[in-house]
Amino acid sequence: MLIGGTVSTPPASLRLRSTLNPQNAVSQSSQAAFPSPVPRQPASYSITDDDLKSRGFLFRRTAEGLNLDQLNSVFVAVGFPRRDTAKIEVALQHTDAMLWVEYEKTQRPVAFARATGDGVFNAIIWDVVVDPSFQNLGLGKAVMERLVEDLQRKGICNIALYSEPRVLGFYRPLGFVSDPDGIRGMVFIRKQKNRK
Ligand SMILES: CC(C)(COP(=O)(O)OP(=O)(O)OC[C@H]1O[C@@H](n2cnc3c(N)ncnc32)[C@H](O)[C@@H]1OP(=O)(O)O)[C@@H](O)C(=O)NCCC(=O)NCCS
Repeated sequence: MLIGGTVSTPPASLRLRSTLNPQNAVSQSSQAAFPSPVPRQPASYSITDDDLKSRGFLFRRTAEGLNLDQLNSVFVAVGFPRRDTAKIEVALQHTDAMLWVEYEKTQRPVAFARATGDGVFNAIIWDVVVDPSFQNLGLGKAVMERLVEDLQRKGICNIALYSEPRVLGFYRPLGFVSDPDGIRGMVFIRKQKNRK
C-alpha cells in the first residue's frame, strides 16, 4: 500500500483511543504567547507523547536500549518467524527511521515499526508490530502516525508498505491506499527447480 502469544484484554486504564489531546487542544491560543519547550506535535496525532507517557509508554526513535531478544519475542508472539538477532541488528543499522514503545513498568518493547529507503524520495515501512497483550490500545496507530510524520519531515513523499489482507483496515485510516492509479506491487519469488 502507498500513502496518499496470548491475547489478553487490555486494562481499561491503559486505553488510549478516547483520550483527549490536551497539548494539541491548547496549542492554538497559548503557543504564540508562550512557546512550548517541547516540539509541537501535529494536531493529527490521535494521542500525544505526554498522554502516552502518563500511561507508562515511552517513545524511542533509536535502537539504543532496545533489547533485540525481547523485540524478537514480540515478532514471534504476533506470528512472525523468529529471526537471527545478529541479523536484526544489521537490519536496524540499515534502517532510516524507527519507532518503538517501551513499557516503563517492564522496560520491554511493546510496539515497533521501522522504515528503510533512500533517505530522500522513497521509504518502505516494515515490521509493524504491537505485543498482543498491548493491542487495541491505540499503540499501533500512535507508532504509525509518528513514523509517517518523521519520514514526511525528511521530505520523503513516496511511502509504501506491504499489508496482509487482514490488516488493510488498520492502514487505510492512516492514509494508505491500495493500487493507486492502478500501480501494483510485485515481489520476486524464486522458481522451484523441478526434481527428477
Ligand atoms: C496490526 C497491529 C499493528 C495494530 O496495532 P494495535 O495497537 O492493536 O492497533 P490500534 O489499537 O492502534 O488500532 C488503531 C485503529 O485500527 C483499528 N484496527 C486495529 N487492527 C485492525 C485490523 N487488523 N483491521 C482493521 N482495523 C484494525 C482499531 O480498531 C483502531 O480503530 P479506531 O482508531 O477507529 O479505534 C497489531 O494488531 C499487530 O501487531 N498485529 C500483528 C502483526 C501484524 O499483522 N502487523 C502488520 C503486518 S502487515
